[in-house]
Amino acid sequence: MADFCTISFPGSDFVPITLECHQSLSEHLTIQNSPVLFGCRTGICGTCLVEVIGDIPPPQHDEQEMLDTLAANHAHARLACQVDITSNIEIRRLEG
Ligand code: FES
Repeated sequence: MADFCTISFPGSDFVPITLECHQSLSEHLTIQNSPVLFGCRTGICGTCLVEVIGDIPPPQHDEQEMLDTLAANHAHARLACQVDITSNIEIRRLEG
């Protein structure tokens, strides 16, 4: 049986979304159901920069390089198109 992970968006009017864990946020979050915007969906444009609170795996090398450029001082910054959802998380959009 699949595990489910809930994505919530504190500070916005969007209601939480529950997905099977490990699903791609860039395939399931839209402009209608979340505050997150996507561009390239491959980790190179920075459009999907967000703050993530929750217990998920740390960034891989390429994502970390982008985060160092876009949000060097933000410990919880992530690229929404690159995260692996392994537990319930809170997402806030960051301005890139
Ligand atoms: S959508 Fe381009 S980095 Fe995530």
